[in-house]
Amino acid sequence: MKSKWWHSAVIYQIYPRSFQDSNGDGIGDLKGIIRRLDYLETLGITAIWLSPVYQSPNDDNGYDISDYQAIMTEFGTMEDMEELIHEANLRNIKIIMDLVVNHTSDEHRWFIEARKSKDNPYRDYYIWRDPVEGDVPNSLRSTFSGSAWEFDEQTGQYFLHLFSKRQPDLNWENEKVRQEVWKMMNFWLDKGIGGFRMDVIDLVGKIPDEEITGNGPKLHEYLQEMNRETFGNHDVLTVGETWGATPDIAKLYSDPKRNELSMVFQFEHVGLDQQDGKDKWDLKPLDIQELKRVLSKWQTALGNEGWNSLFWNNHDLPRIVSRWGNDKSYQVESAKMFAILLHLMKGTPYIYQGEEIGMTNYPVQDVSELNDIESINMYNERLANGYSKEEILVSINAKGRDNARTPIQWDDSENGGFTTGTPWLHVNPNYKSINVQANLANPNSIFHCYRKLIQLRKDHPIVIWGDFELVTDVPDHVFMYLRQYENQTWAVVANFGEEETVLHLPDRGQNHEVIISNYERETVDFHSLTLRPYEAFAVKLG
Ligand code: GLC
Ligand code: CA
Repeated sequence: MKSKWWHSAVIYQIYPRSFQDSNGDGIGDLKGIIRRLDYLETLGITAIWLSPVYQSPNDDNGYDISDYQAIMTEFGTMEDMEELIHEANLRNIKIIMDLVVNHTSDEHRWFIEARKSKDNPYRDYYIWRDPVEGDVPNSLRSTFSGSAWEFDEQTGQYFLHLFSKRQPDLNWENEKVRQEVWKMMNFWLDKGIGGFRMDVIDLVGKIPDEEITGNGPKLHEYLQEMNRETFGNHDVLTVGETWGATPDIAKLYSDPKRNELSMVFQFEHVGLDQQDGKDKWDLKPLDIQELKRVLSKWQTALGNEGWNSLFWNNHDLPRIVSRWGNDKSYQVESAKMFAILLHLMKGTPYIYQGEEIGMTNYPVQDVSELNDIESINMYNERLANGYSKEEILVSINAKGRDNARTPIQWDDSENGGFTTGTPWLHVNPNYKSINVQANLANPNSIFHCYRKLIQLRKDHPIVIWGDFELVTDVPDHVFMYLRQYENQTWAVVANFGEEETVLHLPDRGQNHEVIISNYERETVDFHSLTLRPYEAFAVKLG
């Protein structure tokens, strides 16, 4: 595979609303991000994926865009945005923009026009259908609960919204819509950005009348057109959010020969703690064997015809240390274990803000504390369907999106140093002990583990290019794999257990030099090796 900068990159996701407030209004902003660029440079990341900063009424916190070429007033101005790109570039950090083009806000000019009349020139930018027997056109559901069809009184038709009713879906079959999107993407490329993260991009080829949403027949045709018309000649990273991707589908997007995207986010591992065929809210415990099976399948299945994105976290998912680790007695150990396990795999790692200091889920006690539209809608729907408040809150505490959206804990001052005003969303009460300042000061912190992992990727081609092999003769709760490149082999071991576990792998030798670990450990002897709770390390086998 021809080497590109993003093959060896580490990306850091910023959710701007919660990153750093600079003017005391309680809302993170662009100037706040600029102030923290030195911190990100210290961490060593290559690029920032910036969650949406465009003009938006914030029905879904910026994923409902009313103007793609203007900055959200609370976040700053276009000059601030240009300054951010410039200041980041000075530190060799690229800015990757979130591209949300499956839908717009209902306050976007196109939709305001479209809903005026059936013959408005913008009508066909969206998806309208007549009622069927006085009811919705079909049974398509919104991800945020209820029907995906909303009736519009004025023109007597329904419009489609796969997310909130304030996020009407664009009609990608309309060539004019695609051209508007290409124009807008080129506007941002001309500003010198480093690429795009494409929101729910697998939905743009939908055929609503057949109730096909993901992976529609024209999806890849559209992406090839996008590549040709926009970023194809730019050296940028493009990553698609594709909930329904299998390895074969991922190759369609990311095989370099096909001229679509650099890589996709696949979510197979993310679904492992929900009951089969049910919602994300219907919980079941993680089976570590399944996690090993799924992640190692993705490590090997793409071969040279695609590229992986590696992630545990983002703004839609609970914090990994709370989800599958132990955020109380082993917060540091388990956070580092997840870092070591993921960052030495093949693919491009993504760190979600706060992950690098082991931030944890926020303990919600009452529905009034919620901000996220998805959780609030689900709460109301399930309450109406007879669930108890208590059981709904169990689901929300486990999976709600607000968990990852609380403000970054910079230090132990009031509001964790995020704002001098009132934060838009509660700060996690554990900010006195879990914060950036404390992490920077302690050479054994989670932050320094992430920093070292990023440096290892820069120094050792094996981390980027090495073949992956799962080691299977270990206990179920131990995740062990090998990386192999030229004449080198590394082994990575992670113990998901909270008990000591003894490994006997005499064939793997002894006196191996440790590359990185989350407990003190100098050499490794595989004849008999006692792993402590959540212990993880990498060693050179030869
Ligand atoms: C994606 C985003 C999520 C958003 C949704 C609708 O899944 O990551 O935050 O709510 O798309 O845009
Ligand atoms: Ca602010």
